[in-house]
Amino acid sequence: MSDTLLPTQAQIDWDDQGRPHSRQYDDVYFAINEGIDETLHVFIEQNHLRQRFAELKPHACLVIGETGFGTGMNFFCAWQLFAALAPADARLHFVSVEKYPLARDDLARAMQLWPELAAFTQPLLKQYVAIHPGFQQFSLDGGRVTLTLMIGDALEQLPQLDARIDAWFLDGFAPAKNPDMWTPELFAQLARLSHPGTTLGTFTTTGWVRRSLIEAGFTMKKVPGIGKKWEVMHGVYNGAPVARAAPWYAHPAPASGPREALVIGAGLAGCATARSLAARGWQVCVLERHDGPAREASGNPQGVLYLKLSAHGTALSQMILAGFGYTRRWLEHLQRGQDWEACGVLQLAFDDQEKARQAKLAAAFDNSLLQRLERAQAEAIAGVALPSGGLYYPEGGWVHPPALCQAQLDHPRISLLTHADVLELRRIDGLWQAWEGERLLASAPLVVLAGAADIRRFPACAGLPLKRIRGQVTRLPVTESSRALRTVVCADGYVAPPRGDEHTLGASFDFDSEDLTPTMAEHQGNLALLDDISTDLAARLRTAELDPAQLRGRAAFRCTSPDYLPIVGPMADVEAFNEAYAMLAKDARQVPDVDCPWLEGLYVNSGHGSRGLITAPLSGELIAAWVSGEPLPVPRAVAEACHPNRFALRRLIRGK
Ligand SMILES: Cc1cc2nc3c(=O)[nH]c(=O)nc-3n(C[C@H](O)[C@H](O)[C@H](O)COP(=O)(O)OP(=O)(O)OC[C@H]3O[C@@H](n4cnc5c(N)ncnc54)[C@H](O)[C@@H]3O)c2cc1C
Ligand SMILES: C[S@@+](CC[C@H](N)C(=O)[O-])C[C@H]1O[C@@H](n2cnc3c(N)ncnc32)[C@H](O)[C@@H]1O
Repeated sequence: MSDTLLPTQAQIDWDDQGRPHSRQYDDVYFAINEGIDETLHVFIEQNHLRQRFAELKPHACLVIGETGFGTGMNFFCAWQLFAALAPADARLHFVSVEKYPLARDDLARAMQLWPELAAFTQPLLKQYVAIHPGFQQFSLDGGRVTLTLMIGDALEQLPQLDARIDAWFLDGFAPAKNPDMWTPELFAQLARLSHPGTTLGTFTTTGWVRRSLIEAGFTMKKVPGIGKKWEVMHGVYNGAPVARAAPWYAHPAPASGPREALVIGAGLAGCATARSLAARGWQVCVLERHDGPAREASGNPQGVLYLKLSAHGTALSQMILAGFGYTRRWLEHLQRGQDWEACGVLQLAFDDQEKARQAKLAAAFDNSLLQRLERAQAEAIAGVALPSGGLYYPEGGWVHPPALCQAQLDHPRISLLTHADVLELRRIDGLWQAWEGERLLASAPLVVLAGAADIRRFPACAGLPLKRIRGQVTRLPVTESSRALRTVVCADGYVAPPRGDEHTLGASFDFDSEDLTPTMAEHQGNLALLDDISTDLAARLRTAELDPAQLRGRAAFRCTSPDYLPIVGPMADVEAFNEAYAMLAKDARQVPDVDCPWLEGLYVNSGHGSRGLITAPLSGELIAAWVSGEPLPVPRAVAEACHPNRFALRRLIRGK
């Protein structure tokens, strides 16, 4: 598995006219002189996109799938046309797979070839960071356009995609130059992801490609080409729709009624969910019991963008890699220094076990994501003396979580209702009503519970196995010499370079305490964690002279699930679920043909543990994708691993 985690960047030679040529495939990315015209003819016209964009129904989303993102030219052309022709409330979701992503500099250079597309190329370039294997989602044009880039081989990535593609751009170098991609497995995936009426455009007319597409269920037709291509092909899928997921992980029917939603809880999870829904045209009311957003776990002055990965590509590791990229791109909209800093994160190799773990990760991932450093190299990066080398994540850093929450709430379709403690939800006439005692706070057909562990107060969530773990951070005043710290350094705890005049030092773990008053003992515990990170830094911060009774900090609850994955998705009625699928207790392999008894319009986004900065924002997109039927932003298996139904299912199978 490990070799599939390593992305290989595109190796590009530039010809004398400044155009890219792939060394890996010995082929050109686009035809000399006719790049854009060819894209328009082969992909836009053969998929009738001008007309389809113009005729999109209110809030409809057109989904384009592509093989071979390359320089993104097809995407930019489609987006440009969408922007010109589609109604204002329509959306474009472009899903593309790329085995060899371009390095940022190469992408920037290619983009210079099309100054007329700058309004589309430059926003993507700004967000072109943290491009790692697996699903990488981009939110563009205020969320009106979504790009899901799957980094990896099409034959590996497409089977993981949950989407309903409306139009295919079948690109990816000529079949003669790239026979490994143009295979029956690829065509079977195109069919699986299509629906009757899905169209396809491709520049190749190679006989066996045409025959294979026909066999897969497409009606294919050769049409006149452009430039040096005499003919190209157009296709329409009219095969049978392919069977989808097991009923307990199927897409619920879209919520009926007005596009209005309640989100309960204004932490990272709630704010992200509100934003993802608002971007899809939902009017969102966020209900928060405190006087503002980010007052509980999401209220720390600095949190760390730290990736606890596995070399084995587990669901959690995939979620972390996808979530890291998504958050990292969001941060590009925020103010560096004040709201976040891309200062890198250094995880010290503090014992042999950690050293061995780091060696495995270094073998599994590209060094644009993580690098092993000897002690001297680590010290040069950190700016302070350290006890060991470690693993350095150059794209990591720290974030002021309240700033991210606020930025996500800042949308004309989002309103925040503070001092609103939702104690009860009632479903009346197709609407969810949120009540605080006798006070009706708000109502809407859709509600997303994003109140961390407190979602269990609602009977539908009472059975979710969420645990609260108290944690405390210590705020340390900066000194002249502590300013030398240039990167976040982690061992068992973490310390960040200063935000303003303070460093954040974290964090304690207390599984028992329910009291959120900061304690002196935990400040002392945090200072001990700092000693393990760097006695030099502790001396620079003059911690020995600090009076623990005077230390400042804050405590909050993390909220974790037993498998450490977040809990994100639609909720079912547990009793009806147990009844509907009772037969699984006898035979776990059965997939009964019984629809899941969903609680219509009720969703959950919780369980983000100690890494909400990485998982909560992408989980907002995942909720929005479940709600709207758009392509899921993570592999199907990851979405299922995060699904609220996983616990009820396991209980049934184990007969408990
Ligand atoms: C000490 C500490 C250090 C951490 N360090 C990091 C780190 O370095 N990096 C990282 O990624 N993560 C870190 N985390 C974890 C991260 O903070 C959380 O994963 C994240 O904040 C969870 O966001 P949330 O929105 O799910 O929960 P919260 O931020 O707790 O938000 C839930 C909100 O819902 C509201 N609410 C709940 N129920 C109701 C109701 N019924 N009605 C109205 N409002 C309600 C609450 O008031 C609260 O505002 C840390 C956590 C702690 C405690
Ligand atoms: C002709 S180029 C794409 C042109 C692109 N649409 C553009 O506008 O630049 C083909 C792309 O397909 C990618 N590719 C080829 N085989 C692939 C595979 N098996 N899986 C994923 N991507 C592949 C190549 O790396 C290359 O970037």
